[in-house]
Amino acid sequence: MGLPTPDTAHLARPEYASVYEPAEDTYLLLDALENDRAELQALRPAVCVEIGSGSGCVSAFLGQVLAPHRALIVSTDINAAASAATRETAARAAPAAVLEQCRTRFAQALDGRLRGGVDVLLFNPPYVVTPADEIDSTPEASAWAGGRDGREVLDALLPQVAGLLAPAGRFYLVAIEENKPDEIVRIMAAHGLAGRRVLSRRAGREHLSILRFARSPAAC
Ligand SMILES: C[S@@+](CC[C@H](N)C(=O)[O-])C[C@H]1O[C@@H](n2cnc3c(N)ncnc32)[C@H](O)[C@@H]1O
Repeated sequence: MGLPTPDTAHLARPEYASVYEPAEDTYLLLDALENDRAELQALRPAVCVEIGSGSGCVSAFLGQVLAPHRALIVSTDINAAASAATRETAARAAPAAVLEQCRTRFAQALDGRLRGGVDVLLFNPPYVVTPADEIDSTPEASAWAGGRDGREVLDALLPQVAGLLAPAGRFYLVAIEENKPDEIVRIMAAHGLAGRRVLSRRAGREHLSILRFARSPAAC
């Protein structure tokens, strides 16, 4: 039987109106993590980071995937309401992990401390193709507006990923076809990380994929 999806019923409250509700992209990432459960547990991660946690559904789920192993899971988001929602989701979820939330862009506020120490890094970015000026135009738009190729937010993170990851660390990324996943894989290769699609699914007009990256081609 599959792991339960974390309870995010509190997102119906008005203070969370700007928070991204878990959707097909979220669920594909959950499925990729559950598929990799044995490998992720074998990794015995100490520090996991989710950038852009929104509801906190993915971070809380990662805690379940790793249980009974307990890891520190640090979630970040630029939306204050998302930070609060993530804290509430974590409090409702079984305390399978130590979940901390930090309101910051990417992992900037923690970068120096996390450098070379992140065992599992997750990002479901704002990936929709939009005019550049929609990016971060509202808290709601921050959840989906990705600018040119839906890549402008993601492209600012990609050069930082290898520096954040621990030697055996893994990076899971959500992408759609318009984001040019093969080009993302080539960019990451130039930064020393091997990557490939591990899961794909069509959801309405979106062709979603999960890309997984690691230093060793055998681990990606
Ligand atoms: C597509 S939503 C994903 C939410 C959640 N992780 C999920 O899978 O359901 C993208 C999230 O990233 C956040 N975000 C956008 N740009 C960000 C940035 N530069 N740094 C941190 N968070 C960001 C948004 O506020 C939003 O919560």
